[in-house]
Amino acid sequence: MKCLRFLLSFVCAAVLVFAQVGYVSAADANSKKLDVDQLAQKECLGCHVSVTPGIVKQHLDSPHANPKTEEEVRCHDCHGEKHKTMDDYAKAEMPTAATCGECHKEKFKEHRDGKHNLGWMVMKSQIAWHGQPGAITEQGYRGCSGCHKIGEKGLLGVTDGNMGALKSDGGKEASEYRYGNAQCDACHTRHTFKVSEAKDPRACSNCHMGFDHPQWEMYTSAKHGIIWGIEGHEEDARAPTCQSCHMMDGSHSVKTPWGFLALRIPTKENVLALIDVAPSLEEQLTKLASALPSGHYMDLDDDPQWTFDRALILQAAGVLDANLQPTERFVELVVQAQVARGPEEFNEIRTEMKANCNKCHSKGFVDSHMKASDEIIKAADHEFAKAIQAVQGLYRDDILKKPEGWKYAPDLLQYYDAKTMIEQELYLIMLEYRQRTFQGAFHASNDYMHWYGWAPLKTAVNTILEEEKRLRAEHEKGKEKQ
Ligand code: HEC
Ligand code: HEC
Ligand code: HEC
Ligand code: HEC
Ligand code: HEC
Ligand code: HEC
Ligand code: HEC
Ligand code: HEC
Repeated sequence: MKCLRFLLSFVCAAVLVFAQVGYVSAADANSKKLDVDQLAQKECLGCHVSVTPGIVKQHLDSPHANPKTEEEVRCHDCHGEKHKTMDDYAKAEMPTAATCGECHKEKFKEHRDGKHNLGWMVMKSQIAWHGQPGAITEQGYRGCSGCHKIGEKGLLGVTDGNMGALKSDGGKEASEYRYGNAQCDACHTRHTFKVSEAKDPRACSNCHMGFDHPQWEMYTSAKHGIIWGIEGHEEDARAPTCQSCHMMDGSHSVKTPWGFLALRIPTKENVLALIDVAPSLEEQLTKLASALPSGHYMDLDDDPQWTFDRALILQAAGVLDANLQPTERFVELVVQAQVARGPEEFNEIRTEMKANCNKCHSKGFVDSHMKASDEIIKAADHEFAKAIQAVQGLYRDDILKKPEGWKYAPDLLQYYDAKTMIEQELYLIMLEYRQRTFQGAFHASNDYMHWYGWAPLKTAVNTILEEEKRLRAEHEKGKEKQ
């Protein structure tokens, strides 16, 4: 049947609506919940059982329509009551996390305290984000924005006074988006909003997968995930899940010690210890140290070589400037978006996580796993730093020219918009190989740690060093010709 003409299409639509109502009532013939008479008593349900029958069914299956203790939650509790007819549906309100928070105060507060809430803001802080088409980054939710909508829109850094503080724009940015402001539905999808779904590791996998954060693939290729797959996921299961390691006791404030990029803040002590090894940098290092927190990292603290390697990485990311001093990106990324942690917070979360492992493993076993994984970050950073130095040298010697409009060069945060082959390799080390190396180590996926992480990381470093030689030779030849 073709519905190309206007008249015909009208008939088709009517048939479709009929078919859908038929489908719902047939499938649920025995369910008194879907007794159409009962539904008709309720305005929204009565009409929506034919307009969006799937949503009505899901809602009626949800804890909201079947509360154990409190009063039933209705469509209008989340969508308001302004829309009432077939034509005025643009008046229906779309909920935000704050709407859920009106009734779920505790979970809302936890979520706000965790890193998920910062997801939108941190995405927008990336220079590469600004270079991509809007459909990838904004309204369409078909790329960065599709995963990062788990974060709150409209968070602004406070520029005077308390640098770490954030304030909300009062819903301005969110109001520019019709859909995708609910945040909580990232794990409890509408309209069933089930806890059982949110507790399943597959609920995390649409976002925590792939190129730069393949936690799903690592988990399911390591013993924990394999046992979860074989034995299922009862409350007293033998294997931990993403949630039991990262949302301990149901806490919604997710945060890890190292974070996504495994870049922690060097301590005062770490930086001052570097002066002994690099006395020529005393002035810059003393100044930098004065801006940093004091303390020691547990399990594996930084040695001078590691502090130096990480300083180069921070420099290549434009977080420290050429004189090793914090830039505006340090404030945006580290202080406001909490991309990196200092020793106090790092040690606190690490201690909690280890206590959680101790439910099933001995202290010695867990300590050695954590130390070995920290060591792997250190080894990866050393390789990465070698590659960064090579590229920095090319800029210093004017063999590579800073692209127009770039504030820093090299700039790791330009991602795939890097202009040269050698910087494309550097980008792959940062976002793909180094990530997989350390994330694979922590998640006990040896294949990811080694074959998808460390091995291509070494290949890329070697390629960069070769390419550096080639570029230098080419440059010399060019000079001879002149
Ligand atoms: C007389 C029929 C009717 C009634 C009553 C009705 N709706 Fe709707 N509603 C519609 C139609 C038609 C649409 C548009 C459906 C579409 O675009 O496929 C809609 C769309 C919606 C949307 C989506 C809007 C969007 O922009 O995507 C929401 C949310 C909604 N309704 C909620 C409600 C709530 C809550 C009530 C009760 C307060 C309600 N509806 C009552 C017919 C109705
Ligand atoms: C008007 C108050 C209200 C609003 C708004 C609301 N909820 Fe609920 N929610 C409830 C009630 C009441 C229950 C049922 C609690 C019970 O079983 O006693 C519930 C249950 C839940 C549960 C299951 C809890 C459990 O222990 O099984 C989840 C998950 C949930 N809501 C998520 C959400 C999300 C996400 C939103 C926003 C999109 C939201 N809620 C909006 C009141 C609300
Ligand atoms: C607990 C809160 C809550 C309740 C109750 C609720 N909704 Fe929704 N609804 C949502 C959320 C969250 C979204 C997604 C909004 C977004 O994308 O920003 C949504 C989106 C929608 C949409 C548009 C998106 C789509 O998938 O088409 C429609 C239509 C809709 N709801 C209808 C209803 C109807 C009808 C009811 C009652 C049967 C209802 N809702 C009850 C939270 C709720
Ligand atoms: C990252 C995934 C994720 C997000 C995002 C999320 N939740 Fe949850 N939620 C869970 C998990 C997992 C549980 C089960 C926790 C447990 O009991 O172990 C849960 C449990 C709940 C419960 C039932 C437990 C209780 O103590 O009442 C409610 C209610 C709830 N969430 C509401 C929300 C609200 C509101 C938001 C948004 C502010 C939200 N959730 C965002 C994963 C999530
Ligand atoms: C056995 C516990 C455990 C399980 C199960 C687990 N993780 Fe992790 N996860 C860790 C540890 C340990 C770290 C590193 C902690 C640190 O920084 O010290 C980590 C780190 C992370 C990070 C930060 C970046 C990184 O990868 O190092 C994210 C995000 C993450 N895990 C998500 C997940 C997701 C999603 C799942 C499920 C697919 C999962 N994890 C399963 C223990 C676990
Ligand atoms: C809709 C996409 C999405 C889903 C679903 C999702 N996350 Fe996330 N998650 C993100 C984003 C984006 C970030 C980065 C936010 C930031 O750091 O500002 C993040 C960050 C995290 C972090 C913090 C890593 C760090 O930097 O310390 C952990 C842990 C985490 N998620 C665990 C989970 C778990 C467990 C689940 C499933 C229960 C889950 N997430 C579901 C998108 C998602
Ligand atoms: C498939 C979903 C997905 C897409 C697409 C995606 N991200 Fe992410 N992003 C995540 C998740 C999940 C995390 C947290 C991972 C972790 O901690 O290991 C994250 C982390 C980040 C972080 C680090 C946050 C922190 O605090 O450490 C930044 C910055 C970021 N993403 C920016 C972007 C930008 C910009 C784009 C598009 C160019 C993008 N992301 C595309 C899911 C996604
Ligand atoms: C709910 C119990 C449970 C928790 C919690 C748990 N594990 Fe495990 N873990 C297991 C089981 C079961 C095995 C498989 C034992 C075997 O290999 O015989 C395992 C295996 C491992 C392995 C060996 C993997 C391999 O390939 O040989 C490592 C490493 C590990 N766990 C680390 C951790 C760390 C680190 C944590 C905390 C972040 C943790 N586990 C939390 C149950 C748990």
